[in-house]
Amino acid sequence: MRPKASVLIAEDESQARESLRALLEDEGYQVLCAPDGMEASRILNQSSVEAAVIDIRMPFKDGLALLRELKDHPAPPAVLIMTAYGTSAVAIEAMALGAFDYLTKPLNFDELRIQLQRAIEDRRRTSELEAYRIEEDAQQESEIVGSSPAMQKLYKMIGQVSSTDSTVLIRGESGTGKEVVARAIHKHSLRASRRLVKVNCASIPETLLEAELFGHERGAFTGASQRRIGKFEYAAGGTLFLDEIGELGHATQVKLLRVLQDHCIERLGSNITIPLDVRILAATNCDLESAVKEGRFREDLYYRLNVVTLRIPPLRQRHEDIMELAQFLLRRSANRMKLQIPSISEEAKELLCNSDWPGNVRELEHCLERALILSRSGVILREHVELSAVPSASDPMDSFSLEDGLRSAVAKLERRLIEKALASSGGNRTRASEILKINRRLLYDKLREYGME
Ligand SMILES: Nc1ncnc2c1ncn2[C@@H]1O[C@H](COP(=O)(O)OP(=O)(O)OP(=O)(O)O)[C@@H](O)[C@H]1O
Ligand SMILES: [Mg+2]
Repeated sequence: MRPKASVLIAEDESQARESLRALLEDEGYQVLCAPDGMEASRILNQSSVEAAVIDIRMPFKDGLALLRELKDHPAPPAVLIMTAYGTSAVAIEAMALGAFDYLTKPLNFDELRIQLQRAIEDRRRTSELEAYRIEEDAQQESEIVGSSPAMQKLYKMIGQVSSTDSTVLIRGESGTGKEVVARAIHKHSLRASRRLVKVNCASIPETLLEAELFGHERGAFTGASQRRIGKFEYAAGGTLFLDEIGELGHATQVKLLRVLQDHCIERLGSNITIPLDVRILAATNCDLESAVKEGRFREDLYYRLNVVTLRIPPLRQRHEDIMELAQFLLRRSANRMKLQIPSISEEAKELLCNSDWPGNVRELEHCLERALILSRSGVILREHVELSAVPSASDPMDSFSLEDGLRSAVAKLERRLIEKALASSGGNRTRASEILKINRRLLYDKLREYGME
């Protein structure tokens, strides 16, 4: 069995220390002991303990001094303070310095056991929330660029649905900006001051996804050693963005349907129903209608999600947006990389505007990032964007000769298309197979065949 949390006991009285050690070891904790404040301080600085049970009065350094030191600790443990003198002044000061709780001596072991467990759970939950927060900060991008009629129509619809609480299904090819649209909807909604939480349904295995979404109680399944809230609860009051919804497995589809109908969830391993106020946005680039026909996606869920559908047109159907997007993306990448913003030469512009961009805005963004690095002179030239932007008008026959023979010419073409798809997906093979409209297995076979692994 995996050892429970590690706990430091700082107590100068040896008998008390040893009986605490025995108690906590019996509970399965990994225990470290310190007979005085100096030693406790050394242990806290050198090893990472999850919790510390600290006596107030100790030689060399007292418990309050240790708490003060922990203020600068990168990952401070949860602290329970022990005091023989139930004076409120000390207790208040200990709590003000961030202790989880204080216990009076003689210790009540049951109370200690319970408070220690609570303290550790609380600390774990806080660091989990911290992790979510970092994840969110990394994705604060909701500015939508493009003034083509198609995009204007889209803005109007975003405006109309934002203020409602209705579920929105965002559809569009890979890289068209589905996530950007989801962010914009949230930003303009009444929930803007609350969280937008994203879950990518394709990137998490089905078995873990349910726990990720709904949370779990301790012991709900092997490995669930703590209670953990899921993303639904974390998004309470705000918006949950379910990306790649077409990849959802059957069991999770059933559960999601229930949330959409009844507005409540149950954590795994619990039969307590938690009412929930979360707005759902979903996105997909797959053909949900076929998935329904083939029985891979529940029809009832499809209708629940499909209350309002926003379709983002592919970039090749709005060539007039390309330059505006290019200027915006270039500025953003240059700022991120702390580089000067280059200008774009007329020839490069022409190439960018005439290309079809099968990987849509994301492909354009990658192309410009590459050009930004290649263009040292401060001007993006045609050759800097040539690698990926292929004008739609050019004749592919130009690069083949009859001497190649049919088989080798087809292989050459196939190889080039695969390279292009991989370039536009940033090396992501799943995306590349989608762009090529073949299944992933076939793509892997081809990569092997052409020695492109
Ligand atoms: N209209 C737009 N204005 C500004 N930036 C955009 C726009 N559309 C897309 N982008 C940018 O293009 C990139 C891809 O967008 P996004 O991730 O939203 O696409 P997606 O449709 O979710 O793609 P996928 O299907 O691959 O998940 C992002 O960096 C995003 O900021
Ligand atoms: Mg996306």
